[in-house]
Amino acid sequence: MSAQLEELKSRGIGELGEIGDLKELEAWRVRYLGKKSVLTQTLRGLAALPLEERRGVGAQANEVKDLFEMRCEQKRKNLEEGEVARTLERGQIDITLPGRPMPFGRLHPTTQVTRQICDIFFNMGFQVVEGPEVEWDYYNFEALNIPKDHPARDMWATLWVDFQTEGGERPMLLRTHTSPMQIRVMERRRPPLRVVIPGKTYRYEATDATHESMFYQLEGLAVDEGITLADLKGTLLHFANCLFGEERRVRFRCDYFPFVEPGVEMAIECLVCHGSGCRLCSNTGWIEILGAGMVHPRLLERVGYDPAVYTGFAFGMGIERIPMLKYGIDDIRLFYSNDLRFLRQF
Ligand code: PHE
Repeated sequence: MSAQLEELKSRGIGELGEIGDLKELEAWRVRYLGKKSVLTQTLRGLAALPLEERRGVGAQANEVKDLFEMRCEQKRKNLEEGEVARTLERGQIDITLPGRPMPFGRLHPTTQVTRQICDIFFNMGFQVVEGPEVEWDYYNFEALNIPKDHPARDMWATLWVDFQTEGGERPMLLRTHTSPMQIRVMERRRPPLRVVIPGKTYRYEATDATHESMFYQLEGLAVDEGITLADLKGTLLHFANCLFGEERRVRFRCDYFPFVEPGVEMAIECLVCHGSGCRLCSNTGWIEILGAGMVHPRLLERVGYDPAVYTGFAFGMGIERIPMLKYGIDDIRLFYSNDLRFLRQF
């Protein structure tokens, strides 16, 4: 080893031996291993040396560097252990004190309810699938029987994505409902089909106590030979009984959605007054919770199913509405304003 490196090595190790605390150790590390240290400079300067010298000096310098690093770590450990021991001796740590409890996390109320609903349908043989939140006009509207300029588009105030095709069209949007997944699922599979699709949906909306620009929906779809409106009603009644109680009555009425025929809305008996009329149900005794219907034959044709052979039903519900009803939450904005005082209650 060169005399210079030899000298550096013994000086470094010698000084390390004198060190008494972590701060001094850090200064030592900077001096002997830092960017401006002799060692680092030597290693950096290797390239400038003639080839035959390069290998020898390089190996030696690295050897010293490894040694310094190892001793430095040893010293750090010793010093740290010493510090803990001294603190204990001085009685500054009471090791008999109980530890600080780790705060427990919990599931968001929307997640809890989503899982509950998925479980209910899972037990009836439905599979849970998910789909994209950024969607094409085609799936969100067009394939669901809602052509451009159709007034039904007004039912879904849409957030469009700033993306333009060469032809000047803007076909990308944030899905306004989970119904586009009806088409996506049917395109990929053949009946028999039973799926539920939970997920985020978006609307261009001024927010207030009952409107959020982002909220969750859960879509359901069943397609098979011989499915009738009675299957739809039975399935959704069972769902309502699981979620809102065995005795809960439901009511179906005609409603219009372009992608179902016939279309219905389902209401449940009011949770507060059980049908006699109160403020929650606007004196009607009923609370609407979802839209549904028999899958429109044109949707089936579009995905290549023969409507003479296959029929199906579909439904869609807003998820937040359910805990709002169950727990008497009167402002949907509470769900996503991240106030722990609210979230901790669930
Ligand atoms: N997608 C509809 C909505 O957002 C709900 C719906 C789903 C209605 C499926 C019928 C069938 O309002």
